[in-house]
Amino acid sequence: MKERIERLRAKIEEFKSESPQHLEEFRVRILGRKGELTAMFDDFKTVAADGKKELGKLLNEVKTLVQDKLKSQKEQFDAIGSTRNPSLIEDKTLPASPCGIGSRHPVSLAKNEILDIFARLGFAVAEGPEIEDDRHVFSALNFPPDHPARDMQDTFFIERNPDILLRSHTSSVQVRVMERQKPPIRVVCPGRVFRNEAVSARAHCLFHQVEGLYIDKNVSFADMKQTLMYFVREMFGENTRTRLRPSFFPFTEPSAEMDVSCKICGGKGCNICKHTGWLEVLGCGIVDPNVLDACGIDSREYTGFAFGMGVERLAMLKWQVNDLRLYFENDVRFLQQFQTAL
Ligand code: DAH
Repeated sequence: MKERIERLRAKIEEFKSESPQHLEEFRVRILGRKGELTAMFDDFKTVAADGKKELGKLLNEVKTLVQDKLKSQKEQFDAIGSTRNPSLIEDKTLPASPCGIGSRHPVSLAKNEILDIFARLGFAVAEGPEIEDDRHVFSALNFPPDHPARDMQDTFFIERNPDILLRSHTSSVQVRVMERQKPPIRVVCPGRVFRNEAVSARAHCLFHQVEGLYIDKNVSFADMKQTLMYFVREMFGENTRTRLRPSFFPFTEPSAEMDVSCKICGGKGCNICKHTGWLEVLGCGIVDPNVLDACGIDSREYTGFAFGMGVERLAMLKWQVNDLRLYFENDVRFLQQFQTAL
């Protein structure tokens, strides 16, 4: 009997309850009508008189042990229960448990800002597929059949003849919009684009663009200039100066690139602007009549302008990010810096 009592004592000492139910089951198992300790007290009645003193003492010790254990564990559960239930919290001024706040990705922040600015000018948002065909990425945009941009080095082809590919620019969405919508058209088209380029601080095989398109009667180069100047000042600040440089794109004639005055050095020249005082932000131009005709819009009746910009690039200029790869590595130390930009 002594041994049985000691084994029970060890069991009680070891016991740790996981839940109030678990604790109650334990109580019944030890102290219930058919419980182990109850049975021992029953057996105790038949113990010879000379052993009673010692065994009685042991049994009472174990009984106190189990009662104390039940009491203390019950108190612990009660304490947890009361803090979990907010209506039972006495101190209403206690701070809430901390909860980590995330931040928007800088590419999303920049993209949303670009779309917001153009929304104020009446531009709607249009989207198109990332997996495209040759017509929407190249031929309807007036790319000659042997244009280098169609080359394997630039474009990720999924299938050849007929070609299925990952779009290398969001200009493909202009074609889709013009195919299904009659002028006036005023859209901005955000999206991911893909190019077969080695990843470095200045280039990536995946990035984001926003394309813009405005088609109506009598749309002029001056309208384009005014629209883009408004955009740049909203994006980079009132005092930003702009300049247009002649350029070439197959889908616009004339074509231009827009530069903004370098915010870092105020135009004096620094290593960000390669000592020119200017930073290139977008490509633009008057939509080539061949493109309008290829998309079912009468080029004798309508004119328009288009523009395209890289979102990562604009975000780099806005927040002085010096390596494109940072956008894709998801390093929280980088991402956290944009919490206040929300
Ligand atoms: N699609 C050009 C690119 O990927 C960007 C661009 C330039 C778009 C001029 C345009 C434009 O609509 O008019 O580099």
